Amino acid sequence: MRCTVFGTGYLGATHAVGMAELGHEVIGVDVDPGKVAKLSDGDVPFYEPGLRKMLCDNLAAGRLQFTTDYAAAADFAEVHFLGVGTPQKKGEYGADLRHVHAVIDELVPRLTRPSVIVGKSTVPVGTAADLGRRAAALAQPGVDVEVAWNPEFLREGFAVQDTLHPDRIVLGVQPDSRRAEAALRQLYAPMLDDGVPFLLTDLQTAELVKVSANAFLATKISFINAISEVCEAADADVTLLADALGYDPRIGRRFLNAGLGFGGGCLPKDIRAFMARAGELGANQALTFLREVDSINMRRRTRMVELATTACGGSLLGANIAVLGAAFKPESDDVRDSPALNVAGLLQLNGATVNVYDPKALENSRKVFPTLTYSTSVAEACDRADAVLVLTEWQEFVDLDPAELAGIVRARVVVDGRNCLRHQRWRDAGWLVYSLGRRTERV
Ligand code: UGA
Repeated sequence: MRCTVFGTGYLGATHAVGMAELGHEVIGVDVDPGKVAKLSDGDVPFYEPGLRKMLCDNLAAGRLQFTTDYAAAADFAEVHFLGVGTPQKKGEYGADLRHVHAVIDELVPRLTRPSVIVGKSTVPVGTAADLGRRAAALAQPGVDVEVAWNPEFLREGFAVQDTLHPDRIVLGVQPDSRRAEAALRQLYAPMLDDGVPFLLTDLQTAELVKVSANAFLATKISFINAISEVCEAADADVTLLADALGYDPRIGRRFLNAGLGFGGGCLPKDIRAFMARAGELGANQALTFLREVDSINMRRRTRMVELATTACGGSLLGANIAVLGAAFKPESDDVRDSPALNVAGLLQLNGATVNVYDPKALENSRKVFPTLTYSTSVAEACDRADAVLVLTEWQEFVDLDPAELAGIVRARVVVDGRNCLRHQRWRDAGWLVYSLGRRTERV
């Protein structure tokens, strides 16, 4: 089949490549000629394991192209995916829908055949129905344009796997929909044949599934981080506690890793937009708990600065700190609302000299915090450090040899911001280990 994907950011580029991998002919469309040129050359503008190869394979097979030309894209297919960004509005909690509106406004008047526009972006509930009305008003006479919503659940770092093998496919359709379900069933046939559950809903339920999923994940993380605060007060161990909770299949161990909390381009902005939208709908009380989820999460960052201060003997002034990790999570170069990078910035504001190392996110970090010092290896960042902070759980850091690192630093003090290190191993090598939600045992 043929389809287009509007927006070649994280979501759109991955979806375009994934659709081509399933055997379809795909055009990815973006207003940014730079992104289009890079992708056309087989270059992914962000780090995502496995995506570059899949992009190159499909470009070479002739199934995938990228363009800035809306007219060519409108003419190419009858199914158009919408994967543009919906960031948080400046100074407000709500989502900024200008990119979504721009696609509808530019694309719909150019459509000459009955078409389906399938939204994948995360949007406030009610947006898809609005876009349906907007599209109907803009469509050429006699050209029927349907809007459907097919939320995306992929995780950065696992985007290829999640796109080709999703947990479920959710499709929201207009009440009078005629084409969306059949078109999507055909496009996703290889996945449906693999037994991936397919849930057909109305537009608003599909929109809500997505934000509810992210709100649940954020709540789960903040839950364990709140318990982590109590663990610190009671001298208990949050990691053992999470392991014990996780054996209950109703709870599960995943997303119960206590530490510096959640960040990235999705969870933080999605829970805020969800609260804002619930308020607009008159259901504001329903989601007040998400405000608490947000503040527990933000408290993690200040707590980490306190812990680093303690680790440096009570003051950050003049302390030489190595920060390992800047990405919001491992296997990503994304630093949007990254807890690690925010903590690095806060430490510097408090008078420390901060040397940051991240395997993939250095370039993006430099753009956000140009005044921090960036190192190109763990050893360089840790050179004569008074404390080493592990703030993103890259495997490279989990596997560090504490005995080797001991010869580089000024003080054998490590702060495990993600509860990812084997503390006994570090203690055996003479390190003092601090972490969130677990006691510090003197060697
Ligand atoms: C999240 C969702 O997991 C995806 O399902 C969703 O599609 C995506 O948002 C989106 O809306 O586009 P992602 O932002 O890639 O995916 O990252 P996650 O793996 O969810 O991690 C989010 C944050 O939570 C990271 O900062 C991570 O370090 C933190 N986290 C995760 C914890 O602090 N503890 C945990 O136990 C798990």
